[in-house]
Amino acid sequence: MLLPGTLFLIALAFTFYVDCTSNVSVQKSRIWGPGLHADFLVPVRYFYVQLVNKDGSNVTESVGEDAITVSVVSGDGSPSRIWSQVLDRHDGSYIVRYRLYSTTSGLQISVHFKGRHIAGSPYRIAGNIYHDTCDCPHQTVEQWAQFVGCPATYSQIREDLEIFKDLDMTKVAKEAVERYNRDGQHSLCHYKIVENKVYRKCYGQHVGFNMFGDAILLSLTRKMLFPNFEFFLNLGDWPLVTRKQNPLPVFSWCGSKQTFDIVLPTYDITEATLEMMGRVSLDLFSTQANTGPNWANKSNTAFWRGRDSRRERLDLVEMSLKNPDLIDARLTNMFFFPKNPEKFGELVKQVSFFDFFKHKYQLNIDGTVAAYRFPYLLAGDSVVFKQDSDYYEHFYRELTPYVHYIPIKHDLSDVIEKIKWARENDEEVHQIAKNGQHYARAHLTPADILCYHVRVFQHYASLIKKGTKGIKEFDLVNNPDDRDKCNCPKKKVTKHTEL
Ligand SMILES: *[C@@H]1O[C@H](CO)[C@@H](O)[C@H](O)[C@H]1NC(C)=O
Ligand SMILES: *[C@@H]1O[C@H](CO)[C@@H](O)[C@H](O)[C@H]1NC(C)=O
Ligand SMILES: *[C@@H]1O[C@H](CO)[C@@H](O)[C@H](O)[C@H]1NC(C)=O
Repeated sequence: MLLPGTLFLIALAFTFYVDCTSNVSVQKSRIWGPGLHADFLVPVRYFYVQLVNKDGSNVTESVGEDAITVSVVSGDGSPSRIWSQVLDRHDGSYIVRYRLYSTTSGLQISVHFKGRHIAGSPYRIAGNIYHDTCDCPHQTVEQWAQFVGCPATYSQIREDLEIFKDLDMTKVAKEAVERYNRDGQHSLCHYKIVENKVYRKCYGQHVGFNMFGDAILLSLTRKMLFPNFEFFLNLGDWPLVTRKQNPLPVFSWCGSKQTFDIVLPTYDITEATLEMMGRVSLDLFSTQANTGPNWANKSNTAFWRGRDSRRERLDLVEMSLKNPDLIDARLTNMFFFPKNPEKFGELVKQVSFFDFFKHKYQLNIDGTVAAYRFPYLLAGDSVVFKQDSDYYEHFYRELTPYVHYIPIKHDLSDVIEKIKWARENDEEVHQIAKNGQHYARAHLTPADILCYHVRVFQHYASLIKKGTKGIKEFDLVNNPDDRDKCNCPKKKVTKHTEL
């Protein structure tokens, strides 16, 4: 009788330990998200954990960095290369993400709170799970979009494409090269997707940025089967299409109120999505886990660091030197304007992006075009003061001033006044910070960034009436070498998914 008794005591001690150290209920806590489904084909798969107290209320503070542990292994126990990571959002919720480096037969995902399984853990996923470099598209674009949960469209896409119809790409190609390749002034690429392979022909002197166009197209065509289509991608910072009369459909990473380019998510946020848990460390998920002290413990000095790519940035630094109690803004690099330490202070070292969030108020001032840090600033738990601007990224039109951010005038003349207002209206401003964060969490996920590309390409492709012939003079864009076997499905299958 001794042995069962000992076990009972150990079990009792264990329960006692768990009960005493927290109110977290392992049964009531929730786990959800697309990374628990086999058909969710994105570079890094992810899901969410919300800890819930025994009384049913959400846990709203971190219960410790190491309280949640996760293991992701292949379903049949065979060795596989999988890297998983738990990101503590310090509000009782967590992001769990994992990247496969080899294809596995099924997955078993265990999520523990202080050693105990929570919610439905362990989760078993059946079927082959392909790693990101596998070139085995086995879903149609629409199937992929359904599995990933893409919205049917986006209002920015509708607006951008409204002015185009019955596109004759032979004409577009001829005119695009004539208009935009004059004197090698602009750099752009003509991309063609033919039988799900990516081809391109580039024009201009600085075509290095085609690596971003290549990367997203390869990533998408590895996952889904596209109909043949073709388009022009502008590799420069500035949007190109200035005329409304006979405009040409050209894709750009930044839009403006004066131009008619079709906007894509920026190369920056797209790369952060594709290379997540790889060579890029700043992404929309890592930001959420590194938001600095809680609101009450953040400094109420408005913060900015950056280079001198626009006049207003210098003005801001001047203002900061005169009002150091209100604004902490410094230049880290000067390239466009002459140095003038008396007016603009000495250059300072770059600050780690996550340290920006020691401050409640973040200033977002245009650079060459829109400041591509905006999505990351929104995802933190500070409030963003956004300079009014003609430039925009693909998601700006979904945001509302005073709901998701605090607007400031283009010439920055109201910055001081707005900071003072924020200090006097702390609760309201904190709510704006939370709304911005909520938007970024809900709409700038890796799935969203890929969905936007897919939806804009789908819609645009449907407008092409006549394509150009052949791929003569085009380069085939190759997928990176893959040393691991993919075991692609032999034929098109729609696998059954289980939780
Ligand atoms: C658990 O909840 C009770 C009642 O709400 C509270 O008094 C106690 O401090 C909580 N314990 C912990 C560790 O949070
Ligand atoms: C609890 O958390 C979940 C997931 O984050 C959220 O959907 C829900 O609205 C929260 N409930 C309350 C009462 O805040
Ligand atoms: C500020 O931070 C300190 C140290 O981490 C902590 O003890 C304190 O509770 C925080 N203040 C608030 C209002 O959260």
